[in-house]
Amino acid sequence: MSRIHQIEITTEDGETIHFECRGDEDVITAALRQEIFLMSSCREGGCATCKAFCAEGDYQLVGCSVQALPPEEEEEGNVLLCRCFPESDLELEVPYAYSRISFAPEDRCFTAEVVELARLASNTMRLRLRRIGGDRKVTFAPGQYLDIQIPGTELTRSFSPANTPNEEGELEFLIRLLPDGRFSDYLRSGAQIGQPLTVKGPLGVFGLKENGFRPRYFVAGGTGLAPVLSMVRQMHQWKEPQETRLYFGVNKPEEAFYLAELKALEAAMPNLGVRICAWQADEGWSEERGSVIDVLRRDLEHKPTQPDIYLCGPPAMVDAAYAVCDQFAIPRNQIFLEKFLPSGPCGEACDASRVHHHSVSA
Ligand SMILES: Cc1cc2nc3c(=O)[nH]c(=O)nc-3n(C[C@H](O)[C@H](O)[C@H](O)COP(=O)(O)OP(=O)(O)OC[C@H]3O[C@@H](n4cnc5c(N)ncnc54)[C@H](O)[C@@H]3O)c2cc1C
Ligand code: FES
Repeated sequence: MSRIHQIEITTEDGETIHFECRGDEDVITAALRQEIFLMSSCREGGCATCKAFCAEGDYQLVGCSVQALPPEEEEEGNVLLCRCFPESDLELEVPYAYSRISFAPEDRCFTAEVVELARLASNTMRLRLRRIGGDRKVTFAPGQYLDIQIPGTELTRSFSPANTPNEEGELEFLIRLLPDGRFSDYLRSGAQIGQPLTVKGPLGVFGLKENGFRPRYFVAGGTGLAPVLSMVRQMHQWKEPQETRLYFGVNKPEEAFYLAELKALEAAMPNLGVRICAWQADEGWSEERGSVIDVLRRDLEHKPTQPDIYLCGPPAMVDAAYAVCDQFAIPRNQIFLEKFLPSGPCGEACDASRVHHHSVSA
């Protein structure tokens, strides 16, 4: 019989919860067994939704994706709770509020039907869903994401709404088409208007943070625009006064989309500046030339105050933008990010034999 350890979880707003965890089970599973629903999604070490900081205790981490938990973060004491097996009592800190934890076996799944499928660019589609059934309302904090089940399979994929919460049940997704991607293939050939889809969520902790009146800079690569747009649209609805910049980067002009929507938002929000950047721009491109990282670096050079920075998109872009923020000494607690990691099982990036033992003491 495996030893039982005491787990203490402290939330972002300073509340604590306690539960027990056996040495042979991970922290998320132990919490679920005791009807405590902590933030999690893939439960396979691949998505980083369950990331936490261990302030005290010994544990083993088994099979985390290096994208979800880079070695330097692991070194600092960060853990993925779905892959964290305690070897002593643990004191853990999670980056979300107590209200995001639920204590009932509630079913977060609902059904929504496909109402629009539109090709926006060479590698991007928009999928619009509308919730059906009794309660139409869709509630989420802008920046969060939902898991959508691929019809006829048990597989789910994570996508972030680009719109804001609403009573009409509308969900607007911007989806990158990947070669041989299961959801991408479904969109390319199987999806039909009126088809019901199972949706789970909201999930995730990416979202707007209260910051007084500090400027907010949002940096999005490709469909990383979706949660960023949701947050900026929310700021517009709330008439938030901060100076706001939205950097939207694509590789090639034919991959760009939502230019008219972004220009319209810029015209409607006096505090918003939009920079649309194409890395391999051709003659006809009239927006910014160069990578979104270059344009961000150039702007930060001329910025006297340090803005809050929100980063979202492919992991390599997020890492490069993070390095630029470091270069300009932007405090880490002013940088918020979401990497669009592959959903579901973490695949090749996840090495199940990668077992790390840690000892942390305050
Ligand atoms: C929290 C979160 C929110 C997300 N929100 C969005 C969103 O709003 N819009 C969006 O387009 N994507 C989003 N993603 C990424 C998306 O969930 C994954 O890219 C997903 O795997 C795509 O599903 P698929 O079935 O088409 O491809 P899969 O069947 O999962 O993958 C097919 C192939 O592509 C590779 N691959 C998977 N993802 C990527 C990637 N991002 N870049 C390069 N290669 C990849 C895989 O390794 C595999 O070889 C999000 C991811 C996370 C974790
Ligand atoms: S839920 Fe732990 S990494 Fe996805």
